[in-house]
Amino acid sequence: MEAFLVILCVFVFLAREAAAKGGTVLPLRVRVQEVEAPAANRLRFRHNISLTVPVAVGTPPQNVTMVLDTGSELSWLLCNGSSYATPPSPPAFNASGSSSYGAIPCPSPACKWRGRDLPVPPSCDTPPSNTCRVSLSYADASSAEGILAADTFLLGGASPVSAYFGCITSYSSTTSSSTTTNDTSSEAATGLLGMNRGALSFVTQTRTRRFAYCIAAGDVPGVLLLGDDGGVAPPLNYTPLITIPQPLPYFDRVAYSVQLDGIRVGAALLPIPKSVLAPDHTGAGQTMVDSGTQFTFLLADAYAALKAEFTSQAQARQLLSPLGEPGFVFQGAFDACFRGAEASVAAASALLPEVGLVLRGAEVAVAGEKLLYMVPGERRGEGEDEEAVWCLTFGNSDMAGVSAYVIGHHHQQNVWVEYDLQNGRVGFAPARCDLATQRLGAAA
Ligand SMILES: *[C@@H]1O[C@H](CO)[C@@H](O)[C@H](O)[C@H]1NC(C)=O
Ligand SMILES: *[C@@H]1O[C@H](CO)[C@@H](O)[C@H](O)[C@H]1NC(C)=O
Ligand SMILES: *[C@@H]1O[C@H](CO)[C@@H](O)[C@H](O)[C@H]1NC(C)=O
Ligand SMILES: *[C@@H]1O[C@H](CO)[C@@H](O)[C@H](O)[C@H]1NC(C)=O
Ligand SMILES: *[C@@H]1O[C@H](CO)[C@@H](O)[C@H](O)[C@H]1NC(C)=O
Repeated sequence: MEAFLVILCVFVFLAREAAAKGGTVLPLRVRVQEVEAPAANRLRFRHNISLTVPVAVGTPPQNVTMVLDTGSELSWLLCNGSSYATPPSPPAFNASGSSSYGAIPCPSPACKWRGRDLPVPPSCDTPPSNTCRVSLSYADASSAEGILAADTFLLGGASPVSAYFGCITSYSSTTSSSTTTNDTSSEAATGLLGMNRGALSFVTQTRTRRFAYCIAAGDVPGVLLLGDDGGVAPPLNYTPLITIPQPLPYFDRVAYSVQLDGIRVGAALLPIPKSVLAPDHTGAGQTMVDSGTQFTFLLADAYAALKAEFTSQAQARQLLSPLGEPGFVFQGAFDACFRGAEASVAAASALLPEVGLVLRGAEVAVAGEKLLYMVPGERRGEGEDEEAVWCLTFGNSDMAGVSAYVIGHHHQQNVWVEYDLQNGRVGFAPARCDLATQRLGAAA
């Protein structure tokens, strides 16, 4: 409850701040998802820890929580009367309760398939309804079906904007519902805000030329800024967005794609050939900055080099003990795992070598607690010898069935990240996001 009050206060302050600056400021939270969010992009896969923002949709406005996803295009909302394969159902958007809601008929240009905004072409109901039906799907066979619709979206103190979204009426997931916590933030999100560069994304539809976020660690609100930030951003290092002229089967042209130049562990730059870090002739091997994926994924060769160097440095300094169970893989892609009591690993993590994702012109550095994730429910030993299992928060893309490098939001904690579409670049700077969020609020 206390946490909830804090968010509300920050939200009110930030909304005022935004109004003064002409931009929009919103609280941003990391929360456990009860359901996995389907996404339109074939490179995406399941993620149950998400970044969310509060949004008001429709007339009169209905408050919903949406996942902020820079890796997706078409936004969607679970709509009234939807059916779920996996209870509990998150709160739905009541379309019939909104006077500004409208279903988009087939002849609309928005219903034309451009071959990348949706995984499969929309289908058309027979006249007179001519409803445009959309379907979103996941690499792991989760799927969502619904109709293309439009309504007004109100984010923070900004003026309401009308945008297309998928009004989802049927949803199914292949995996059972995820870990639940007592956390007040564990209520599931109603939808997803598609923030990539595609024609149907929220960013493109609302002509947003710049947005930024700062994700705080733990259960503390961070901040999302849409539009002009009024000069509150710290000095940023920018890396250019990569575009390719021709479509390639495995290259996502509407992702925030950047060039990875190298990976370092402490002072040691890993011996990875440049060709492994760049997209190949099929487009596989691009590097995406993605707020919709939790951890970071590296293609197999780069992953193997990181795992070997990190383990070797950590062992040489006697900081971590390998798990020693060759068959153990967390979430199908994380097999650089260790064992240790919580207190000793917490102490050791401060001394672990920093892992740097070296981008052209910028770097995303991962250190301390962000390097390891304690696997829920995995314990080894008993009594005083009881230890937890910890895995490196970098996964193997190939094992996850992903053909790209993905920089997930876990590694963007306490980093100010700016998506500057105007100048085709992404900016990064280390930041204390809890303080930045407070400062933005307190300044009002
Ligand atoms: C929606 O949220 C706003 C801001 O937090 C609040 O003022 C309003 O009462 C809420 N509306 C409903 C219907 O809960
Ligand atoms: C949901 O809203 C739509 C749009 O108004 C309406 O056509 C439909 O009947 C509603 N479904 C339910 C179950 O209320
Ligand atoms: C949705 O809105 C309609 C019209 O206001 C109302 O009759 C209906 O009860 C609402 N449904 C739910 C589930 O709130
Ligand atoms: C995500 O959900 C899966 C399946 O429900 C579960 O095995 C996994 O532990 C969850 N991940 C996290 C980080 O909670
Ligand atoms: C839930 O709350 C209980 C009692 O307050 C606590 O023992 C338990 O650790 C909590 N679980 C989680 C996942 O936070």
